[in-house]
Amino acid sequence: MAGMIPREFIDEVLAYTDIVELIDSRVPLKRSGANHMACCPFHGEKTPSFSVSQPKQFYHCFGCGVSGNAINFLMEYEHLSFVESIEELAQMAGMQVPKIAYTNEPQKQSPEQFELLDQVSNYYQYQLNHHSQAQQVQHYVQQRGLSPEIVKRFGLGFSPPGWENVLNVIGAGDQNKIQALFDTGMLIKRDEAHSGHSNKSPYYDRFRERLMFPIRDRRGRTIAFGGRILGDGKPKYLNSPETRLFHKGQELYGLFELKQALRKIEKILVVEGYMDVVSLAQFDINYSVATLGTATTAEHLQKLFRLCDEVFFCFDGDRAGRDAAWRAMNNALPAIKPGKQARFMFLPDGEDPDTLVREKGKTGFEAEMTQAMTFSEFFFDSLMKQVNMDSLDGRSKLIDLSKPYLEKIQEGAFLTLMIARLSELADIEKASLLPLLGIKSATPERSRKAPQDKAFNSSMGQTRQAPSPVKKAITYLLQYPNLAENAGDPGRFLSLEIEDIGLFVQLLDLLQNDPHLTTARILAHWQNSTQHQYLAALAVEPLLITDEQAISCEFNETLQLLTRQYQQQRLTQLERKERNQGLGALEKKEYVQMLLSIKSD
Ligand code: UTP
Ligand code: MN
Repeated sequence: MAGMIPREFIDEVLAYTDIVELIDSRVPLKRSGANHMACCPFHGEKTPSFSVSQPKQFYHCFGCGVSGNAINFLMEYEHLSFVESIEELAQMAGMQVPKIAYTNEPQKQSPEQFELLDQVSNYYQYQLNHHSQAQQVQHYVQQRGLSPEIVKRFGLGFSPPGWENVLNVIGAGDQNKIQALFDTGMLIKRDEAHSGHSNKSPYYDRFRERLMFPIRDRRGRTIAFGGRILGDGKPKYLNSPETRLFHKGQELYGLFELKQALRKIEKILVVEGYMDVVSLAQFDINYSVATLGTATTAEHLQKLFRLCDEVFFCFDGDRAGRDAAWRAMNNALPAIKPGKQARFMFLPDGEDPDTLVREKGKTGFEAEMTQAMTFSEFFFDSLMKQVNMDSLDGRSKLIDLSKPYLEKIQEGAFLTLMIARLSELADIEKASLLPLLGIKSATPERSRKAPQDKAFNSSMGQTRQAPSPVKKAITYLLQYPNLAENAGDPGRFLSLEIEDIGLFVQLLDLLQNDPHLTTARILAHWQNSTQHQYLAALAVEPLLITDEQAISCEFNETLQLLTRQYQQQRLTQLERKERNQGLGALEKKEYVQMLLSIKSD
């Protein structure tokens, strides 16, 4: 969580970081006047329009409009989260991130465990080429169509036959190491009753005579393994157990390799098997990951949606596949945020991504992907199978069935869309549907245009030419997205008739749902909208004040101003109603409270 790292620490880390040095080590920069330039790493170009300013500690691309500070750069370039970027910068600066930042991480990972697992992985990789059975394994690998490059990229290896290889080679008689190997799941403890009688070690190797797939964390450190039997036999795959380093509900196989392979991640495909990921990569489809024998969790999905806007789930077309898809859908519901899409792809009977991509190649496989169902198609399709849509009763049942799922969706464009679709399918007016779903009002109309309120401008003591407070607030939000954090519920401003208010509310809403968005990623949400140009211009508008505290102050003033406006408008409304038809008890209460709060301002 961003909020978990103290603000002062972030400042300190940024103060210790030189953005020019940071970027230059990844994208070589050339000095040009006051700035440093390069071809933009975020969009393809031949002449450099990516500029980095040392004094401002800020980068900006005049071509595609991305901009930000050192943290933003790492988030975009290395696909790290906010916290991860700070950790990375802190590490470079030799600083320790305050402990509370680590609450999401497994407790007390010992560096020694990572070290040992990397040694094990190297050992397995070596055995793949040098063991006396290497030829047989190589043959298996070739038969599965994997090239030496792909084997290397994924670090595939061979756990040799025998019960005490890792134990002896890596454990090397050192009790601490053996204990650590046991803790990381590489060794299994023998049944005491049996080991007691012999001189055998109390431990033996978990993985024997298997093709090994190392599972790596975001930094590429090995944290677990999956091992496939060569040929037939059971279990087909053996996996490391849950350990302090390895949490199946959080990790995705292939995510590290994906981030290494791609500069820009447009979409991610979630598949079921290790072999599927590797095989797809062999066919130059480098954007797949696999869940590790568990259903997709909300945590998985949050991770994926931080990296890209579109996630495809791939399942078998059979009954079990549909059930698995439904579970994934259910888990995905709360993680879908504005601008994010989940899609479902069902494979023909008897196929998996591995076999399909071999048959059809990259182009054929991607053509299948374009046929994937959208979230709402899959959702309503599945539910409609359970009811008779020709009857009124059936359509009303569809509403009942949908309700518990719709409740899990965050308010916003996605929910509005789902409700609109339900209203269409159930053949019921949206206004009558909402109460049935227990929703008071749908996500309100977002972009409302009305003539600028002149008094509003002058009340800020500004000339007409100066940007309106709302426009200014939007500019600040775009350049300092974390201002949104304490802005409160933006919905209250919606009834105001001021230019840009819809846009402002939408932006606030977006940022409150996803506080880690960078300017570049915020803009992406308006990519295909007429407002994109407008927002992009505000995003790079030079600010007269650059002190964050001053900006925050001014932003809060605007919020207060808008709140007062809203109160004035509501008061007038209530007074008018009082004159015409009288107020209800609740309205009276609201009126009195509002009067009091205005007086106390
Ligand atoms: P599959 O049985 O679909 O295997 O298991 P696959 O991916 O097609 O593998 P190949 O092509 O036969 O080599 C899919 C995933 O389910 C988990 C593994 O994570 C595997 O990648 N699994 C499967 C196990 O954990 N254990 C098993 O015994 C089988
Ligand atoms: Mn398979």
